[in-house]
Amino acid sequence: PSVLSGADIEIVQREVTAEILPGVPTRLWTYGGTFPGPTIESRRGHAVTVAHRNELPVPTVVHLHGGRTPAESDGYPTDLVLPAGWGHVGHVGHGMHDPRAVTSEVTREYRFPLDQRATMLWYHDHRMDFTAPAVWRGLAGMHIVRDSSEESLGLPSGARELPLMIADRAFASDGSLAYPSIDPTLQMQPGVQEPYIAGVLGDVILVNGAPWPVSEVDAARYRLRILNASNARHYDLEAVLDDGRRLDLVQIGADQGLLRAPVVHRNLPIAPAERYDVILDLAQVSIGSRVRIVNRLGSGRTRDVMAFSVVRKAADSSRVPDVLSDDLPEWQRSEAVRVRDFSFRAGQMGDGHGWLIGGQPFAPDRTDVTTRLGDVEIWRLVADVHHPVHLHLVGFRVLSRGGHAPLPHDAGLKDTVSLRPGESAEIITRFDGYRGRYLFHCHNAEHEDMGMMANLEIT
Ligand code: C2O
Ligand code: CU
Ligand code: CU
Repeated sequence: PSVLSGADIEIVQREVTAEILPGVPTRLWTYGGTFPGPTIESRRGHAVTVAHRNELPVPTVVHLHGGRTPAESDGYPTDLVLPAGWGHVGHVGHGMHDPRAVTSEVTREYRFPLDQRATMLWYHDHRMDFTAPAVWRGLAGMHIVRDSSEESLGLPSGARELPLMIADRAFASDGSLAYPSIDPTLQMQPGVQEPYIAGVLGDVILVNGAPWPVSEVDAARYRLRILNASNARHYDLEAVLDDGRRLDLVQIGADQGLLRAPVVHRNLPIAPAERYDVILDLAQVSIGSRVRIVNRLGSGRTRDVMAFSVVRKAADSSRVPDVLSDDLPEWQRSEAVRVRDFSFRAGQMGDGHGWLIGGQPFAPDRTDVTTRLGDVEIWRLVADVHHPVHLHLVGFRVLSRGGHAPLPHDAGLKDTVSLRPGESAEIITRFDGYRGRYLFHCHNAEHEDMGMMANLEIT
């Protein structure tokens, strides 16, 4: 993706035709004409204003995922940016104007202070009941926040730092994005009887918008900034050589920035919305060989994600220090002023199924949780099937999983924790930053649209 930086950024949301599958035109909804949208690069503490103009045929909402953002710029699901093509709001009529809208403009300035740890965030659509189809059609982009302490570490950089947005999609025979997509029976989960209720999967794996790309690289260390931007697909990534040997995935960062120290993985599970910052050492590999990034949870074509073709010898002065950061918050259980319990489960809603938090579907005007700015809380989460649970505004630590110590990939500061079927987890955080109305929800985008979201009011 192209890169945008600076304090004032403008993005036009518009429909384009692009060639994703070779020779096949696909209509996309985009940020700025491409999928992914432009990667925004910012510096910690340097505020950025992003003006989004909506030239799409539908209302939109922009959310900066992982951003420590004042509520008025956080992209509340009813805080719509209206389509320019609809003309003046007062003339829309015919029930098209959403009465729950907080504001209704065709251009909206989102202001991001970015007073937070350096990390890779992402921006995506967040409109009520319509996030999943909007993101599926292309409304997603990456946003990297840098700072000088991270830059002084000597990690691989420049052409050896690769932001990788992984997303599955399905295509109809005319090239259009198929939503919902392929064989619905593939998409059922045990105990759930309706198609698509488990979330929508595609059979084509895109990395930065390209199907199964092969990237020509040096025999050197690479920093992979991996984002799972899929609506519902989980991956368990590994790096495999042609002879079957696996390379280590050296994790240096989580959703919310660098770990204290690197964690070595043979494989790395990544749920929707999670990010991992990973070093892949391709200097160990002989010239001419290929390293495939494989999803152990996929089958057939969905097993492959992308590949690196190691084409040349090259100097490499990068390093991976034993200590990466010393500013990770370490909240203690004794600091928590409250413990709350939340269940993430399927339920009946009207005449269909829904996905519920604490037995309730999302309602924009109901406050589910009220907390005070600065309070430390422990949240105990329990899930029926896979639910990646995301909190807006704050990063958190995973305290336990299934009654045991967290897993190796739970290290660091997270904003999304992947609950496995039947599993419980405890997370701890301090609700600081800004007062106002925020959200927490399942980041399976279909679950989110089907009600698995709740309001969090910070007072
Ligand atoms: Cu990635 Cu509430 O969102
Ligand atoms: Cu978010
Ligand atoms: Cu879910």
